[in-house]
Amino acid sequence: MNDFKERIAAELTAVRGRSLAYTEAEDDLLVRQHSPLMSPLVWDLAHVGNYEELWVLREAGGITPLRPEIDDLYDAFKHPRKNRPSLPILGPVEARRYIEGVRGRVLDVLDRLDPESSDPLHRDAFVFGLVIQHEHQHDETMLATWQLSGAAGLVRDGELPPGKPGGPEEVFVPAGPFTMGTSTLPWAYDNERPAHRVDLPAYWIDRLPVGNRAYADFVEDGGYDDPRWWSPEGWAWRRETGAFAPQFWTRDGDTWWRTRFGRREPVPMDEPVQHVCWHEADAYARWAGKRLPTEAEWEKACGWDPEAERARKYPWGDADPDPGLANLGHRAARPAPLGAYPAGASFYGAEQMIGDVWEWTSSGFQPYPGFRSFPYREYSEVFFGGDYRMLRGGSWAADPAAVRTTFRNWDHPIRRQIFTGFRCARSVSAERSELR
Ligand SMILES: [Fe+2]
Repeated sequence: MNDFKERIAAELTAVRGRSLAYTEAEDDLLVRQHSPLMSPLVWDLAHVGNYEELWVLREAGGITPLRPEIDDLYDAFKHPRKNRPSLPILGPVEARRYIEGVRGRVLDVLDRLDPESSDPLHRDAFVFGLVIQHEHQHDETMLATWQLSGAAGLVRDGELPPGKPGGPEEVFVPAGPFTMGTSTLPWAYDNERPAHRVDLPAYWIDRLPVGNRAYADFVEDGGYDDPRWWSPEGWAWRRETGAFAPQFWTRDGDTWWRTRFGRREPVPMDEPVQHVCWHEADAYARWAGKRLPTEAEWEKACGWDPEAERARKYPWGDADPDPGLANLGHRAARPAPLGAYPAGASFYGAEQMIGDVWEWTSSGFQPYPGFRSFPYREYSEVFFGGDYRMLRGGSWAADPAAVRTTFRNWDHPIRRQIFTGFRCARSVSAERSELR
């Protein structure tokens, strides 16, 4: 195998090691449903193997189905998450055996692959990028399931750089066009394509994600009890759920505590806030006299280099992420302190845009002009126009293989089990509201 294929094989091994580590647990923890929002962990495990079988073995490799009778059980579109525990899914032992059987044949397909082929699944090994990113995305979902389960075990105490207090609150992005999306990154999904020009008026965007200290100020200022800050849908959500702070927070006297993978600890006030839904982010922004950035504003602030007239793959440039630039890949099971990555700043000076927490934007999910569904409609197209809000930048739980400036993620505005925070923006033309 050449270097390119060796790298792919290494990525396949790494992601599988991750999935197996997240399913190394008592069978009961793996087969139980911890929340109606999530699948049993063992469903995710066999599903990533089944997806790999469908796309690499059958579609790209032309290999006869190994277990066609289970396809239906692992079709995410046929069975919503809440119904998955009642399906006759494979148990942990059988699931591990199945995915191992698939993987054995996948390496043969890799060996035979022609990355210069005109077949778009083969070209640049796209189909491998597809399954590697897909499995990492499920691994992140599995982490959210663990967090909801309250089970101990996945805290990792990897070293993160110290935070750096001070510095400007916002950075300025001058008016002008930029290139949004990509037509060239080989493993980009269909929804990131094609590259197109977007012209934006000038705006300010927070240099850093909103931190726990600032968010606690909003809570302590009565933010959850004041309908002025909430959209009508947000206020309805707030009343229905009785939410009073980010998910997993509790209050004891004057101290905020959080539970993180079964561990109870004081909320670190210098970390980006996480586990807030879109409605909470939107309400905070209004309270702060600001608003959420649009997806285009987020992407321009993250990746555009106006001097080079080109978009960077990451805020700092095109070099692969490393531990000095961004908090990715579950090195520690938490966001890094604010200001921890000055070297990872974007051209405009925005920091921590990649890693730490997914960031809510104000935008819904729409195709870019010239969108073409590939390789299947159910990846993106069927979600366009739903009630989703776009999330950008990836979290501490996202792998570098599944994160870049152009990467688009989406979820319902009420979801907060995901590793999600936000930063605010404001238009230059609008006077900053002094309502508070
Ligand atoms: Fe999936």
